[in-house]
Amino acid sequence: MANASGLWSPSVPSLRRRAEFQPSMSIQGSVFCSREFTARRVFCFSATRGADKQALSGSPVGYRVPRLVSRGCKLIGSGSAIPSLQISNDDLAKIVDTSDEWISVRTGIRNRRVLSAKESLTTLAADAARKALEMAHVDADDVDMILMCSSTPEDLFGSAPQIQKALGCKRNPLAYDITAACSGFVLGLVSAACHIRGGGFNNVLVIGADSLSRYVDWTDRGSCILFGDAAGAVLVQSCDVEDDGLFAFDLHSDGDGQRHLKASIKENEIDHAIGTNGSILDFPPRPASYSCIQMNGKEVFRFACRCVPQSIETALGKAGLNGSNIDWLLLHQANQRIIDAVATRLEMPQERIISNLENYGNTSAASIPLALDESVRSGKVKSGDLIATAGFGAGLTWGSAVIRWG
Ligand code: ACO
Repeated sequence: MANASGLWSPSVPSLRRRAEFQPSMSIQGSVFCSREFTARRVFCFSATRGADKQALSGSPVGYRVPRLVSRGCKLIGSGSAIPSLQISNDDLAKIVDTSDEWISVRTGIRNRRVLSAKESLTTLAADAARKALEMAHVDADDVDMILMCSSTPEDLFGSAPQIQKALGCKRNPLAYDITAACSGFVLGLVSAACHIRGGGFNNVLVIGADSLSRYVDWTDRGSCILFGDAAGAVLVQSCDVEDDGLFAFDLHSDGDGQRHLKASIKENEIDHAIGTNGSILDFPPRPASYSCIQMNGKEVFRFACRCVPQSIETALGKAGLNGSNIDWLLLHQANQRIIDAVATRLEMPQERIISNLENYGNTSAASIPLALDESVRSGKVKSGDLIATAGFGAGLTWGSAVIRWG
């Protein structure tokens, strides 16, 4: 079982005791091995040796944080898809009192893509997933789980099974949605790892896709300038523990902060005029709908700059790494000023920061896999590169993961 701190700890008491009190177990490369169970369970250790990445697969000297995993998981394919309609800052200046200069200076955003009436988010998500499968050389029939991370599904009950249908997966893989706004993709990635490590799954598609444009108040210049629509996907595959590519993670939520960023069910749908609680006049309820996104930009900005560096530092610490071990910092693409503030706090130089929000704005759960896919396809991110990634947003939710590409 994964505990709250992101460590893998054995659920079997005898094994737990061995984990805690027998540091002299046999060491094979970077792992301790135990053959007590039919499924092989292995202790992995993250490494730290200053900036030397070789330490990650080298001798056990310097290993710090034990993780017990039965299987490893690695990220082997990515894909993305964007709507055809592009909206520039100048386009927005025609509908609200703003300017290209204000938006680009305050956010770094110049363009965003918006779904037109003819396009569908589910189709976009399926396109991204198809490309990830192609890159991974995995057939749709070999996918055994699809996680659709989205806060804007086209069916209230979730879109993941529709993506399974669109991909033509014949073996009925389990497909379900994860709703966690802009943290959705990081949560999906960690969930995929948990299903692989503990559940016997082999090929898990993690899709981040959102169409916040459908919930934006296009008269509110404080928020409508930020958002765009997109989909991104990653294929996470089971592997030997020695090749495990999820080094550590750190996840949080805070319902108290929801007041700063929400798109709640509309209160005026409840007709207080007819009847009181429990009265037959309260029945049947009216069909519900959601309000547009309401955001206190300053508070969200402060929350992100405070919590994201802490979370990344925590995940790096659990992995026994520090910023100098990381090849790339890949944050949820919300605002360039947030990305820069977090990078400064982590002492990450500009050239190791992945950013593409200039072209797409904040695409919520899609932003991380979209930026990752572009970086992989352009040759920037290479197999073996270490990435510190973090999502943050509504909920409030936030979290980070230290991963290896390929
Ligand atoms: N164009 C021109 N002026 C504007 C605009 C605009 N689009 N928006 C606001 N202003 C004005 C304000 O009215 C204000 O004017 P005033 O001083 O006369 O009152 C002034 O500009 C400053 O406004 P602030 O809100 O203080 O601007 P700030 O520097 O905080 O930037 C922004 C606003 C860009 C929204 C910033 O706060 C931000 O990026 N916050 C984070 C938001 C975010 O990332 N949200 C998504 C989270 S992810 C998810 O889960 C969906």
